[in-house]
Amino acid sequence: MGFMDRLFGKETKEEEKMTKLNIGIILGSTREGRVSPQVGEWVKSIADKRGDANYEIVDIADYKLPFLGTTDGSEPGIAAWNEKLNSLDGFVFIVQEYNHSITGALKNAIDFAREAWNNKAAGIVSYGSTGGARAAEHLRGILGELLVADVRVHPTLSLFTDFENGTVFKPQELHLTNVNAMLDQTVAWSGALKTLR
Ligand SMILES: Cc1cc2nc3c(=O)[nH]c(=O)nc-3n(C[C@H](O)[C@H](O)[C@H](O)COP(=O)(O)O)c2cc1C
Repeated sequence: MGFMDRLFGKETKEEEKMTKLNIGIILGSTREGRVSPQVGEWVKSIADKRGDANYEIVDIADYKLPFLGTTDGSEPGIAAWNEKLNSLDGFVFIVQEYNHSITGALKNAIDFAREAWNNKAAGIVSYGSTGGARAAEHLRGILGELLVADVRVHPTLSLFTDFENGTVFKPQELHLTNVNAMLDQTVAWSGALKTLR
């Protein structure tokens, strides 16, 4: 970058990336045949168009976390999971409803970290037969304990009208506004809470 660019405050792509907030889009399901990657990629494609943060998909399945308390805790995935969470300023949880709550995999992954969650913000995008609303409300209770500020706007996707045969994701147009409003709030609160850490 030239002297004039520096003088007028132009940032290189690398500098711009470093000054932006890092928001992780966390896939809450890990089962074979899950639809969460389709939903996560859709949220990321909307988010990336905004250019207001660095958005990345964070897949719990990649960390191969054991069931909490059943090992000595030395699996490398546990440290890597905490390291990833530490690098993030905020989260968008992709939440699916399992027996009126979140998945066991997501709860287990949440329980594997503590300080790495604290004083950060989160948005929720959920799906299920009733938009995953019951699972999302359970998640809000859990996030309170971890000092994660969950934002109000919450896109709810229906297994009946936003998926074909419950498997191929075809979101209705109307959700776009809500996803952006949820991201507005998540980015604003992630930035505000960064000042506390
Ligand atoms: C064990 C299990 C329990 C479920 N319970 C509910 C439920 O209580 N309410 C609901 O709306 N959908 C329920 N579903 C349907 C899931 O929301 C649906 O299969 C969704 O695609 C799961 O997300 P995934 O594909 O990312 O794993 C359940 C699915 C499973 C596997």
